[in-house]
Amino acid sequence: MKIIKELTKENKELLKKEIEANNLVIFPTETVYGIGANALEEDAVNKIFEVKERARNNPLIVHLQDKKEIKKYAIIENNIEEKLIEAFMPGPFTLILKKKDIIPSIVTANMDTVGIRIPISSVAHAFLETVKVPIAAPSANISSRPSGTNVLDIKDEFNGLVNYIIDGGSSKIGLESTVVKVINNVPTILRPGFITKEDIIKVIGNCNVSKHLFESVSKDEKVESPGMLYRHYAPKTKCLLVFSNDLEKLKKLVKDNLTSKTIILGSSKLKDIPTYKYIYYGNTEEEIAHNIFSLLRKCDEYNADLIIIEGVKKEGLGLAIMNRLIRTSNFNYQEL
Ligand code: TXA
Ligand code: MG
Repeated sequence: MKIIKELTKENKELLKKEIEANNLVIFPTETVYGIGANALEEDAVNKIFEVKERARNNPLIVHLQDKKEIKKYAIIENNIEEKLIEAFMPGPFTLILKKKDIIPSIVTANMDTVGIRIPISSVAHAFLETVKVPIAAPSANISSRPSGTNVLDIKDEFNGLVNYIIDGGSSKIGLESTVVKVINNVPTILRPGFITKEDIIKVIGNCNVSKHLFESVSKDEKVESPGMLYRHYAPKTKCLLVFSNDLEKLKKLVKDNLTSKTIILGSSKLKDIPTYKYIYYGNTEEEIAHNIFSLLRKCDEYNADLIIIEGVKKEGLGLAIMNRLIRTSNFNYQEL
């Protein structure tokens, strides 16, 4: 695997050829790293599902370099969609639109809609501009593992499977994009992210949130976003997510669950509790979002038998953090 540090003319030529050969390229975005292929070629997209071991009924997001391209691949059906595009693209935002036939059905898992995203990161933009085709890309991680937010965390996972990885440093935001679909004229968050419900309300006036964000969904149930069905974002070590608004109650939750080999992953509030290993994850929601996936991977290095993760309030960016952490802990959650 070659790590590309700079998008020189020669490197751009290599990447363009790689995508033309229907191979995969790992690239950075402002949210997380993506593992991308030409979205218009079934053979190329097929490789994403194979390499990632991804369920075939979980659709992929199509990445474009400019808003002007959206109409080539999807149909904008109303002015709420127009306004969302205007307000939040480019950025950490994915809009589910009616798909055009040019997008192969393998990309959308046979759904008649397609997720469109225009990253704002300059490296992602330069990559998309270089290859000149829409890029289907899920997060760069083997399915169920925490999403990749820097090259060091993921290069071994994909060694021998992917030839090129573009190094853009650690992902600025650290959590995947907000996925939104307009349902009955109301923007509906299918997956929360850095663009919050409050941000959308400011622009559109209203916004719903999918009822599945904090539930485990049975495989027979019809869901708007199939990604909700799967175990996700998980280290190999067992996890417990705890939350309380009250510091003493929070500490009690942690102490009551401690084993002889527990990692406490949390803010400085929990740093004084004696335990096998304490790992600081940040004191603000932005810091936690930025650090969490990489730290969850790191936790597996300590041979612990439990990771107790401090939860946050389910508001603003906290909604996205908790949506991921509840899945990380496989719904093993305690609140006081
Ligand atoms: O920030 C991100 O969105 C990253 C970067 C690489 O862009 N990508 C990403 O892709 O997180 P992935 O495949 O890990 O997650 C895509 C999510 C899944 O939950 C999937 O079910 C949902 O978006 N999705 C994609 N297309 C959809 C569609 N047509 N309708 C409903 N949900 C869709
Ligand atoms: Mg993912």
